[in-house]
Amino acid sequence: MSTSGLVLAIDQGTTNTKAVLVSADGRIAARASVANPVSYPRPGWAEQSGEALWQGVVEAIAVVTGAAGAVEIDAVAISNQRESVLVWDAETGEPIGPCVIWQCRRTADACQTLREAGLGERIAEKTGLALDPLFPAGKIAWLIDSVPSARERAARGELRAGTVDTWLLWQLTNGAVFATDHSNASRTQLFDTRRMEWDEELADIFNVSSQLMAQVLPSNASFGLTAAGATGLPAGIPIQAMIGDSHAALYGHGVRQPGTVKATYGTGTSLMTLTGGRVRSRNGLSATIAWSTGEGPVHALEGNISVSGQAAAFMAELLGLSDVGALADLAGTVADSDGVTFVPALVGLGAPYWRSDARGIITGMSLGTRPAHLARAALDAIALQVSDVFEAMQADLGSELVGLRADGGASSNHALMQFQADLLGKTVTASAVPEVSALGAAALAFSGLGIETS
Ligand code: G3P
Repeated sequence: MSTSGLVLAIDQGTTNTKAVLVSADGRIAARASVANPVSYPRPGWAEQSGEALWQGVVEAIAVVTGAAGAVEIDAVAISNQRESVLVWDAETGEPIGPCVIWQCRRTADACQTLREAGLGERIAEKTGLALDPLFPAGKIAWLIDSVPSARERAARGELRAGTVDTWLLWQLTNGAVFATDHSNASRTQLFDTRRMEWDEELADIFNVSSQLMAQVLPSNASFGLTAAGATGLPAGIPIQAMIGDSHAALYGHGVRQPGTVKATYGTGTSLMTLTGGRVRSRNGLSATIAWSTGEGPVHALEGNISVSGQAAAFMAELLGLSDVGALADLAGTVADSDGVTFVPALVGLGAPYWRSDARGIITGMSLGTRPAHLARAALDAIALQVSDVFEAMQADLGSELVGLRADGGASSNHALMQFQADLLGKTVTASAVPEVSALGAAALAFSGLGIETS
């Protein structure tokens, strides 16, 4: 066992890239955050620039290491936005197109075709995931088919496809390492979580050759070493953890046994709970790999709510308020929504309903309805959706869950957390720090180094 030092944890999220320097006792020595632009080139499409994502990471590393002064970094850990995918040239490292991000619906028609061909059940059986444009398999096919001669280049082995963790690892190692971890692989819809490998049948279904995909390693594996000049970091620092951000948050909350759920209250909300083995959801959830270590994969159930924090932002704008803080203040002036219900199906409904054709509605208004009731209904909608997923988890598991660990922006709203606890009839514990995913990734890296964390 080595002596405890610092891990540089990078949390590459959709809107921000955070970097923190963490010690084994969980103390944050320095933090930085860099905003990432997202473009929406067509209705329903969402993409980012792979180069810009990487430059954001470089910048965040420069800020955090500059702030910390002369410190020794023992390892790098990565947590990342999941299901966002890039294809790049193996020789030059240049992406052939945008990073098509998780929110993007450009493969909706392709998914529908597969659904009509009756393939949904087979895909879910192998991956635990329902057919949905969220997942990368169809996005990789789209990237290869939309760029002239990309399919031929792919067949000649000239291209690489990867989720954001893989892309960052490639950059950090100057193209020396092409790998991902089990949590990210399990979200691609190309990975068989029973056999724990890329699956040829899925590759055929989505028309994406497994040869394009990275080597899959445990989440706290020694992924490689930082290369000289890739960032301001010295060469030779081990990259010791990679994990999807939602999974990292569960790890960062200290959840190691089934029974507790974590909810990240962001633009949408992701709930995840450990299952103690591989399960199939019958209640509209995804089965996924939470993380893996040398002891094998740890399985989980997840429910993704498409619009939650964004529902509050949307309502704030409708009511002409400056921001969600003003909305929360207004909502706090009434005891309840006075019968008003807001269903924020603004991009359809995610878990546990999966109705992409659904649209938002506000019901129950009367002449007594005031803006404050609408504000309250928007906050209630966040908690009500979380409760739906929580209940679906209990139904899948056939047992009561003990409580909820919360993180993300809206988790700092005490009234909302209290309402959540009242709805669930369970204890809700909100994280005191906003960087739970980064802390989870750092803890995994420490475990890979054989250093105990608290
Ligand atoms: O599944 C998508 C999720 O990983 C995105 O997370 O933090 O970028 O909103 P975030």
